[in-house]
Amino acid sequence: MADFTSGFWNAYVMVLVALSLIYCIFVLISNNKVDRSHELNQLHGHVWDENLCEYNNPLPRWWMYLFWLTVIFAIVYMVLYPGFGNNKGIYGWSASSGENSQYQQEMRKANEKYAPIFDKYAKMDLKAVAADPEARAMGQRLFLTYCAQCHGGDARGAKGFPNLTDNDWLYGGAPEAIKTTILGGRQGMMPPFGPALGGDGTKDVANYVRSLSGLAHDSLRAQRGKELFAQNCAACHGPEGTGNQGIGAPNLTDKTWLYGSAEATIIETVTKGRSNRMPSFESFLGDAKVHLLAAYVYGLSAKTAEK
Ligand code: HEC
Ligand code: HEC
Repeated sequence: MADFTSGFWNAYVMVLVALSLIYCIFVLISNNKVDRSHELNQLHGHVWDENLCEYNNPLPRWWMYLFWLTVIFAIVYMVLYPGFGNNKGIYGWSASSGENSQYQQEMRKANEKYAPIFDKYAKMDLKAVAADPEARAMGQRLFLTYCAQCHGGDARGAKGFPNLTDNDWLYGGAPEAIKTTILGGRQGMMPPFGPALGGDGTKDVANYVRSLSGLAHDSLRAQRGKELFAQNCAACHGPEGTGNQGIGAPNLTDKTWLYGSAEATIIETVTKGRSNRMPSFESFLGDAKVHLLAAYVYGLSAKTAEK
């Protein structure tokens, strides 16, 4: 609220604030002036609950002083701090705008405090960072802030958002590959095959895909699908269907599914294609934070693999 877009609202707020203050002062003074000492303990004339009456005595002094104090506080506050229209106040304090705003100062302080810690880990090998409990705790906090909305707080993902704990990778699980993914983002593109294969063709190839991971399938359709797969799909998913991490084509022979293994889901994938994006974090978070995140993510499945 530091800047009103038009002079009118600025003036409007100043007049409102000034009038309210003047009114408060007027009420206080007018109440003080009336000397009711001679008529102390007179009844007001209001009666509640049959016999509950109210005295018409002046306000206690200490109470009046508290009122005056609030008025003085308001005036001093508005001299020192922003609040009176566009006035910046003597201190020139600001929550967010300008070099010396509270936000900028706190950010500078935080950077000074944490930069050496980030730097220390940024120079270390990713595997060593993943083995460091303090670094993992920092990585987890970053993950919960920047990644959990898509991959889940436990990093187990959801439909269309890969599980990062299962040691099964679209783009590779080596520490450097994970870092490359987070720095640059990834774009998964599966083209639509509905028009090329037709209804029967997609069903055949879907049955073949299911057969690859040992799921129930129609063997006649799977046999026909095998040929279609070699012609249309092997270029990306590999002749055996084991995938290609260079382009993020999933391994279709394992039991891990990005979208689902149901025949209808596979048919939907093949018919319409899929387009999926992992955003790039290089410019947003910088190399040092991504380094911690990559180590954290690597540690998640490295732990799973040890079990
Ligand atoms: C807007 C949603 C979104 C956010 C936020 C997001 N991701 Fe992703 N991420 C995805 C999607 C979608 C994919 C899969 C891309 C694909 O299918 O090609 C992915 C893929 C990945 C992969 C590759 C997984 C594999 O199997 O190779 C890693 C690693 C990853 N994300 C880590 C992170 C980290 C760390 C963060 C936080 C800095 C993050 N992601 C934030 C959506 C997101
Ligand atoms: C141009 C490369 C390319 C071709 C050709 C291709 N795919 Fe894909 N496919 C991908 C990519 C990349 C993904 C991952 C999409 C994503 O990240 O969202 C994918 C995803 C899939 C999935 C989803 C897997 C899961 O875990 O849910 C299935 C099923 C699939 N493809 C089957 C096929 C079949 C069958 C064909 C042939 C008819 C085919 N693909 C042809 C690149 C390709």
